[in-house]
Amino acid sequence: MSRIAVLASGRGSNLQAIIDNVESGFIPNAELAVVISDKLDAYALERARNHGIEALFVDPKDHLTHEDYSQRLADELLKRRVDVVLLAGYMRIVKPNFIQAFRNRILNVHPALLPSFPGLSGQKQALEYGTKVSGCTVHFVDEEVDHGPIIIQAAVPVLEDDTEETLSKRILEQEHRIYPQAVRWLIEGRLRIDGRRVRVRGLKQAGSVQQVL
Ligand code: GRF
Repeated sequence: MSRIAVLASGRGSNLQAIIDNVESGFIPNAELAVVISDKLDAYALERARNHGIEALFVDPKDHLTHEDYSQRLADELLKRRVDVVLLAGYMRIVKPNFIQAFRNRILNVHPALLPSFPGLSGQKQALEYGTKVSGCTVHFVDEEVDHGPIIIQAAVPVLEDDTEETLSKRILEQEHRIYPQAVRWLIEGRLRIDGRRVRVRGLKQAGSVQQVL
């Protein structure tokens, strides 16, 4: 049984997608060990409680440095024998000490087609830049922000009358599709990191590009 932890700062719709896919069995042989938030009022914590999952608020103010905070999170996860860590709308940078503790077992979802538009508000950046296509990316987390090897991406069109809200919604639907898929592959042991490329065992074609244009 793989033990999954999710770190989330906000509404937690990606957390919900993971919960639903664990409960349905699409993500096989897995359980959610804990959901951790840096925000006391994160709706993600509520979602966890609603599903009988431990919900833990870890207050950044109790820690002197970002490294201390990252170490505390790593300790909480190690204590719970967590195998896989999912960042889902987690608004803090995880430090190298945390990444070392869970090397190649931390995933993140980003609302843009990386390497375009890393950082905050990927959807707004795409709109302002004027791209005609955007999307989302699930990748391994390394020491640089929104940078690790890419597991899966989905592309969506940017429409004439899109606002940040409408584009975000279209992208979010795809996040909820590709994040569980990436977690499933990881837990099935089908992912191999080959330099910057992630190989998915048993995938027929270039199936990790999901086009919905
Ligand atoms: C998503 O757009 C995700 O790509 C980004 O933060 C947002 C989180 O949304 N990293 P939610 O909390 O999962 O609903």
